This record gives sequence, C-alpha cells and structure tokens, in this order.
Amino acid sequence: MPVIVTASSKGGAGKSTLTLVLAQALDAMGATVTVIDADPNRPLVRWRGGKSASTVDVVGDVTESNIIKVIRDHSVRRQFVLVDLEGTANRLVSRAITQADLVLIPLQASALDSNEASRAVGLIQEEEEALEGRKIPYRIIMTRTNPLITTKIEAGIYKALADADISLMKTRLHERQAYKAIFVRRQALNELDLSINGLDGALENAERLAGEVVDFITSLPSQRSVKHVSS
Ligand SMILES: Nc1ncnc2c1ncn2[C@@H]1O[C@H](COP(=O)(O)OP(=O)(O)O)[C@@H](O)[C@H]1O
Ligand SMILES: [Mg+2]
Repeated sequence: MPVIVTASSKGGAGKSTLTLVLAQALDAMGATVTVIDADPNRPLVRWRGGKSASTVDVVGDVTESNIIKVIRDHSVRRQFVLVDLEGTANRLVSRAITQADLVLIPLQASALDSNEASRAVGLIQEEEEALEGRKIPYRIIMTRTNPLITTKIEAGIYKALADADISLMKTRLHERQAYKAIFVRRQALNELDLSINGLDGALENAERLAGEVVDFITSLPSQRSVKHVSS
C-alpha cells in the first residue's frame, strides 16, 4: 500500500507536523496507518508514548540498513505508510525516498525556504537518476500559511515553482495552534480540548489534505511492482 515520505533538507520546515496531521486525518477516515519515525530525535515515537487512543501506529528504531525492509514490511500490511525523515541528506533519507509513492516537501513561505525546496527537489532528481528513470512523484506543500491571505512572498514562490515546472499540492497546511498542541499534549486532533483556537479549521484543513493525498494516490497509473534499492 502507498508509502508517503515527508522530506526536506531543512530542520523546522514542518515535516513532522505534516506527517502527524496527515496520519491522523487518514486514520480518522478509517484507514490503517503506520508512521515510521526515521528522525533520530523521535518526535513521533514520543507522541505515541502519550495517552492518545488514536490507532495510528508508530515505528522507531530504523537505521540505514533496515529502513527499506521496515517500509516494505509495513506497506504490505497497512493501507498507508508515512515516513518522517530527519532534515539532512544522508543515506537513510535517500533509501526511504526510493520507496516512496509520493514525497511531500513542506515549504514555508519565505525566500530562504524556497532555496531549501529546490535543494530537496534536486535530491529527488538524483534519486530518480539512480533508479534509471523511474519517476518518484513529489509535491511541494506550503505550510504554516495564513488561512485568510496569500502573502506576496507566497505568491512569488508559487510563480517560481510554476516557472520551474514543480508541482504543488492545492491544499496548504495552515498555521494552527492545534497542530502544535497535538505534540505538546500527545493527543490526536479529534481528542483536543474544544477550546483550542481554530480547532474546527485545523480539522477541516487536515481532512482536505488527506482527501487530496488519497486522490493523488488513486490517480497514480499503478503501484509499481518492484521498488529498487539504492546503492
Ligand atoms: N502548520 C503548522 N502550524 C503551527 N505550527 C507549526 C506548523 N508546522 C510546523 N509548526 C511548528 O514549527 C516547528 C517545526 O515544525 P516540525 O514539524 O517539527 O518541523 P521539522 O519536522 O521539519 O523539523 C514546530 O515548533 C512546530 O510546532
Ligand atoms: Mg521533524
């Protein structure tokens, strides 16, 4: 079943937040979801250690030697496997990317981050070359956006990405207090205290994101039968 990898060469880009929000939204739709926490800081393993009744499964303890096997083992049993990566380029990151049906690259609307986005796209293109032409589908996703406005910087990034023919998710992941609270309280979005500012908007945004991801996966020509191992 589909493997969705969250990657970016930058720490703090919003990878772990995106991974957990997406995992919870897919879980809330009734899918079976495993998150592989491949970041040595283990933010998602820590989240799972809380009291949440969420059925999202989290797996830690991955290394560059076992990452491909762990992804494959889970992808035969679960409807979605999400992989959260560290914000650096290394062999574990490269190997995880070779297994992806979709790589999501979070990008914050600032000029500095748009450089990081092109670096991450470069990394994917290198992996594609190693795979002798098999395309690794990827999408940039704008994160920490303001739900009410599109800033000038953001509009500039959209134009630059379109000019470079780089695909963008239609859904933006907005800046929401609820997306921080799930980590602090180690809860699922739908378990949070209703007094959290903008919770309805956060739930709706997460659902829309999961819907777009499901549409994207469904539109793939076919799940490829053999996933190559990078050297
Ligand atoms: N959509 C969002 N809304 C609110 N805060 C966010 C959002 N995305 C990321 N953050 C915050 O930004 C910081 C970095 O996010 P994180 O997901 O840990 O990035 P990464 O995994 O790429 O290092 C964290 O403090 C997180 O709470
Ligand atoms: Mg992270």
